[in-house]
Amino acid sequence: MQQTIPLSMPDLNEEDIQAVVAVLRTPQLSLGPKLPEFEQKFAAFVGTKEAVAVSNGTCALHLAMCALDIRDDDEVITTPFSFISSANCILFERAKPVFVDILPDTLCLDPSKIEAAITPRTKAILAVDVFGYLAQWEQLRALAKKHSLLLIEDSCEALGSICGKQRAGTFADCAVFAFYPNKQMTTGEGGMFVTDNADLARMVRSLRNQGRDEEDKFLVHHRLGFNYRISDINCALGLSQLSRLPDMIRQRQQVVQWYKEGLAGLAADVHVPMEQEGVDVSWFVYVVHLADRFSAENRNQLCQYLKEHGIGCNIYFPCIHLQPFYRRDFGYKKGDFPITESVADHTIALPFFSRMSQKDVAKVCETLKDGLLHFPS
Ligand SMILES: Cc1ncc(COP(=O)(O)O)c(C=O)c1O
Repeated sequence: MQQTIPLSMPDLNEEDIQAVVAVLRTPQLSLGPKLPEFEQKFAAFVGTKEAVAVSNGTCALHLAMCALDIRDDDEVITTPFSFISSANCILFERAKPVFVDILPDTLCLDPSKIEAAITPRTKAILAVDVFGYLAQWEQLRALAKKHSLLLIEDSCEALGSICGKQRAGTFADCAVFAFYPNKQMTTGEGGMFVTDNADLARMVRSLRNQGRDEEDKFLVHHRLGFNYRISDINCALGLSQLSRLPDMIRQRQQVVQWYKEGLAGLAADVHVPMEQEGVDVSWFVYVVHLADRFSAENRNQLCQYLKEHGIGCNIYFPCIHLQPFYRRDFGYKKGDFPITESVADHTIALPFFSRMSQKDVAKVCETLKDGLLHFPS
């Protein structure tokens, strides 16, 4: 059946379109003036000294690995409950992701389990701000300091989340963001590396642009780099979106509130996302958790039902350690990370985007309610 309410949708307006068109009328489609403008305004929003825009979130993570010199047999402690690139980036440089289970409430890395995973090869902790929740940064920083480890924040899902005055992206040695169209703001494809460390930023700038140093105008390559540049077309869209980001985040928070009200009657079967104390969460997705009595099979059937009735939905996330190539190449199996696995078996991402109407939310809730009738309590 044709989906009537998609899982996600970018929030694009006429100003966004005009911003893109304006760049297309200039000869500078890449490495033009929109790049530094986007970087400076983004850094000011997040609260870091430096921001380096790149082609997507995955390559921002990859560049973080390279700039921090994480490679060959180094170990990086990270979460199995994330989008796959937060673990893959460690493999890109032949280092080893060492998974540690998550907290059942924020779904972020459990700091109490980290010390048991530290070995003489451990070089860094890479934690993810899952769905917009902030990881337990105070504890993570204390652990990193105690064991002299680097700390990396994957904030691809948490742009705008704030604790006191501190925003996602400012809690570690460096952080990354992503701007795929399902994110809080989009550049089509795009990503950002942020840090307060000028040397690190300079290295990432060089690596994104084929190993050139910034002052080089010609074909001088000082190190092995990549083409991870982002075009000025994307940056123009990013600037326009960034100017509306606080509004878009507020609209998303309104949608969360409508869901909370709409799902209140289903509380025995469907648990809504918890509110994180002290944090103003900027929501990336709206993920509900089915009660324990439901099996993964039940959850899949419910997802199928929603899709057949025009409601976009997805399983968020499947465990990284149980992905086919992680099982095959690293021998991971079911049972290795029980909390991650239980969450992954019970969660469903429902439609979520800033322009979602109250009527849309009501339709999703109604369809979910009807779908649950197939599983008598
Ligand atoms: C936690 C996390 N890390 C990394 C990425 C990768 O970003 P991109 O898709 O732009 O490469 C994503 C994207 O969804 C993500 O959610």
